[in-house]
Parts: sequence; C-alpha cells; structure tokens
Amino acid sequence: MYLTREEERALDGFEGEAKALAMKVVVRVGEVLGAEKLVPIKNAHISGISYKNIGEEGLAFIEKLAGEGARFSVPTTLNPGAFDLAGWQRMNVDEKILSGQLRIIDAFRRMGAAITLSCTPYLYANISYGDHLAWSESNAVLYANSVVGARTNRDGGPLALFEAIAGRAPLAGLHLEENRRPMLLIDFSSVGEKVVEKGIFSAAGLAAGRIAGASVPLVKGLRFSGSDELKLFLAAAGATGGTGLVLVDGISPDLRFAKWNPVEGVERVGVEWSALQEELERYSGSGEGVVVLGCPHLSPSELKDIISWLRRHGRPKRRLILFTSRAAVGEAEKRAAEEAGAELFTDTCMVVSELSKYAGREFVTDSGKAAFYLASQGYLVKLLSRGEALRYALGGSA
Ligand code: F3S
Repeated sequence: MYLTREEERALDGFEGEAKALAMKVVVRVGEVLGAEKLVPIKNAHISGISYKNIGEEGLAFIEKLAGEGARFSVPTTLNPGAFDLAGWQRMNVDEKILSGQLRIIDAFRRMGAAITLSCTPYLYANISYGDHLAWSESNAVLYANSVVGARTNRDGGPLALFEAIAGRAPLAGLHLEENRRPMLLIDFSSVGEKVVEKGIFSAAGLAAGRIAGASVPLVKGLRFSGSDELKLFLAAAGATGGTGLVLVDGISPDLRFAKWNPVEGVERVGVEWSALQEELERYSGSGEGVVVLGCPHLSPSELKDIISWLRRHGRPKRRLILFTSRAAVGEAEKRAAEEAGAELFTDTCMVVSELSKYAGREFVTDSGKAAFYLASQGYLVKLLSRGEALRYALGGSA
C-alpha cells in the first residue's frame, strides 16, 4: 500500500506508540480490503461505548489506549452509553455499570472525544457531500452516505476508534466512487402512497434492508417529507441489512451528481403490501407496554412536535419515554417534556441501556431498528407508526 511520508513516520512510531498501533491496524485493514492508499478523514464517530454491551474487556481496552497516550487526530464524537449522565437515578442503574460507564467516558475524554453520546451526529456535525469520514453506528453511516453524500464505510467501533487516532481510513469500500453505484432497484411504487398515509417508514426500512442485504440498493417510489422520516427508514434498513448506503430517489446526492445511469442493468425488486404487513406482524408484541420513542435519537424538531402534540391532546395515560441527545435539549425542553407527561432521557437509548431495570419487558415503538434489537434481546415489542404510538400512550389500543 502506498503511504505518504507523514503516514510512514506515524507508522514507525515518531508520533508515539498509540498512533503507531492505530496506523498499523488501519493499514492492515486496508490491505485486507485491497486499498491502494489511505484517505484523510474529516471526523470520526465511535459506537459500542455502552458498558452494558462492551463490559470489563471493552473498558480495559479503551483505558489502556488512553493510558498509553492515544489522542484523536480529528474531531470525534460518541454514540449513546448505558444511562443518562444527569438522570441515571431514574434508571435504576447498578453500581458496576455506573462506574464502568463513567470510566469509559473519562477515557474517551482524555483521548479528546466530544462527549456527545448520541447516534445522530449527522444532525450536529459539520459534514457535506464528498467528505471522507470514519463512522461506526449503522444509522449514522447510512444517513451520512445516503442523505448527505459523505463517504464512510460501516465500520465497527474499534476500527473507527483506530481511524480517529490515525486520522485516516483505508480508501476502499464506500470511500470509492465505483462502489457507490446501485446493485439493485427496490421499487415501492405500488405501496408508496400507503406507506406515507400510514406513516410506516420503519416497516418500509425493515423490508428494504432485508432485500438489500449488504449490497447498495436504489430505492424508488417512496416520498419522504423530511429528515425525520428518512432517519427512521434508514435506521430500520440498517438493522435488517448490512449495507452502508441506500440511494434514495430524489434525495441522495450521489444520484444527482451521477455520471452513470442508475438503473441500467440493475435488477428490480418490487415491494408488495404483504412484505410490509409481514414486518408489522413480526413485531406485534402483546398490545401492552411502555411507549419508547427516539431510535435514532429524536431530533429537536421531532421533540418539539411530540411535546406540542401532547399539549394539544392531553397527558399520556401510559408511560411514554423519549430518548434524545444532550445537544437537542436544554433545561427548558426537559421541563416541557415532563410537564407534558413524558419521561425524557439523553445520552442513552432503549437498546443500549438496561431497559428492563426501569421500564419492564413490554414495549410499543415507532422504530423498526428498536423493534428489531429489543425483540432480539427477548423483549415483547409492538411496532406502530408514530401517530399510533402516541395515541396508544394516551390510552388508545395498540
Ligand atoms: Fe441510536 Fe440506540 Fe437506536 S444508538 S439508532 S437509539 S439503537
């Protein structure tokens, strides 16, 4: 692999042992991927930081790196952790998780990360078309690639961490133009209007992910009225599929700037209503449970909409828990959510916190990604549209 003089120096340890290790890992991964060289990255986002998921081993690995002097070379943000740093008392967090998570965050802080603890860095980071990034967290990767047109592979947490230290990623996979072309066309034309009317973008995303698998699809026939619907759709697609890029007709900048015909020679798969029904039936839960919204983390506008909806329709009769990022809320928003009858948590989410400790085992959600992962953790989950989930919280039937 071709390396610049600066990269050679880092690899040889002139910028410290930790950076040399990071370079070694990134170069090795690049060789496996067949990369001819590395590409400088603009920023990094690291997932897999919840103590609930990575435990003592993960903590030891991160503390060792920080202790050896590892420092991030580019602005670096973090995915949600195991609890709300300011509201953990409401989450029945056990002592071990409390101290383990705080140590993980402290180690990341020492390495220079911004303690964002959110899975929606694309709402706050300065990224634009053509930027190279090193992001882990599938929904963020999908949004950055598909909606912004930035370039990142769907990296695992540890690789993104090493790339953040190295300031480089292998120039391979979705960093390369030729790998960003669609390999199949997923056509929602016959069901698109019904998806919009019923607000079931999550079910559509789950179906799209199952069809796409790890390949790059072109999605046609779905009308999105904003980024909030897109993020539900893409997050769900990333849960059932391994792809890091979904080209969405009318949305994805890669399609706008393409010099190729996106549908030429591409196999078409039509989505039928039965496929969406299947997704909804897969997550049909018990018809009871706590309503959990905010996977991916609610944006400031979603939060505002939910709070004003509650103000208009009345306080929920069932528990309604909202997850968002610390960047989206100040004290005023927290108070407003509480006054409207919702519980609000930042820094964490329903999947990476110990949900059973503070909210039981039965849930209603509008998130296909949350439904997918909560079901895999043994919870009973019902997937509804956002409107239906909110009406259910008010006392309606699920
Ligand atoms: Fe974010 Fe947690 Fe969902 S990290 S995308 S809210 S599983």
